[in-house]
Parts: sequence; C-alpha cells; structure tokens
Amino acid sequence: MESHISALNAQMDRITVLEQDRALLNLMTIIRDRNTNDREFSAAVEKIVRRLITSALNHVPAEEYTITTPIDKPFKGIRFTKGVCGVSILRAGACMEQALRDTWTGRLSFGKLLIQRDEETSIAKIYYSKLPTGISNDIVLLLEPMLATGGSVIKAVENLTSNGVPEESIVLVNVVSSKKGLEVVSGRFPGLKIVSAAVDAELTAQNYISPGLGDFGDRYYGTSC
Ligand code: URA
Repeated sequence: MESHISALNAQMDRITVLEQDRALLNLMTIIRDRNTNDREFSAAVEKIVRRLITSALNHVPAEEYTITTPIDKPFKGIRFTKGVCGVSILRAGACMEQALRDTWTGRLSFGKLLIQRDEETSIAKIYYSKLPTGISNDIVLLLEPMLATGGSVIKAVENLTSNGVPEESIVLVNVVSSKKGLEVVSGRFPGLKIVSAAVDAELTAQNYISPGLGDFGDRYYGTSC
C-alpha cells in the first residue's frame, strides 16, 4: 500500500491556483484597486506571498519521520529530504524572498536573475545571473509575481536547466498569471510546477495582464510617481 508520504508527494498537480477564499479575495481586491497606495499594496502582497510560498513548499519531497513526544508517545511525522533555493527574477521577484526565509525551516539559498526585454527585438535577455553552487540538488522556487507573456520565465527556466536543475525541480511562484502565459509556459516545460493566486483572462496590447493590477514593481517599490 502506498504510504501517506508518497501519496502527499504525488497529489500536487502541476498548476495550483490558491483556494479563492474570502481572505484571499479581499487581499486581491486591495492589490488590484487603483486607489490602494504603495504601502497598503506591499502589505497586502506580503500576506498573499506567504500563502503562495506555503503552497509551493508542498512540492518539496518528504519522508516519514517518527519522533517521540514529551509524554513518551510516538508521532509519525515527516521531514523534508531536499533543500530549497529561491531564485528571484529581478526586480519584482525579490519581494518574495522574505516570505521564503520566514516560512522554510530547512537548508536555504538564493539566486538572482536580471532579465529584460531587448527594446528593439522584444526578446527577453539575461543581463545578470548569480546562482548558488549545488542548486541542481535543490527544489528551486522561481519567484516572479506577474506571468504575462511568459518570455522572462522561459528564459529563466532555460537558464536554470542549463545549470543542471531538472525541470521537475522548479516551482514557479507568482501572484497573477495571464491565461496565455500559463499555457505558453506549461506547454513549453511539461515538468514545471506553477503556483499562482489568480489567473486573468487577457493581456493588453502593451502586454499588461488584464484586469491585472498595473505595474507590480512600481507599486511594490513605490516608484510609480
Ligand atoms: N508585469 C507587471 O508588473 N504587470 C503586468 O500586468 C504584466 C507584467
């Protein structure tokens, strides 16, 4: 019979959209509202990101681990069998790092990727990459709050896999996905996992997610004025 841990490890689908409960919908309403100021925006984002990171960590493999409680009783629990590396796509992805530090109790490292669209060709290009040695053994949480066309995420996943990280070990963590971005990225990388708080139907002509929340980085870092 399959143990409860292997069932737990297998049960997570490739694409997870957080349960749309009232607490989450309230936070999403705050961050989507044009009248929300930058401080209120970042405070609500941090609460959403905690939930995303907790969900993403379900993809870290675990094994059964039995301990003895202070009253001398056995408790059949779990322990994780891999470390985690958070890789931020700069600049917006960095807003998820603190939630990962606060949530994950095991071995933890961070990498950074600066990816921007070439203004002439519109092709995403990596301008800076710093990844920890040993990343290929970890579960990598790829931190990117907005999945619009998928161009930056494709570049990031290619960079990670060329550095030895199996596609199956990468979990994209994002706040809002466009339907198109989800289709493009999951079609291109069948082993990639994705955890998102919302999926929006459209992209504008300028590739903003619609209805979306505007420019995430500008609102989170207060650079919109
Ligand atoms: N990045 C953003 O900040 N917002 C979008 O709508 C799309 C990409």
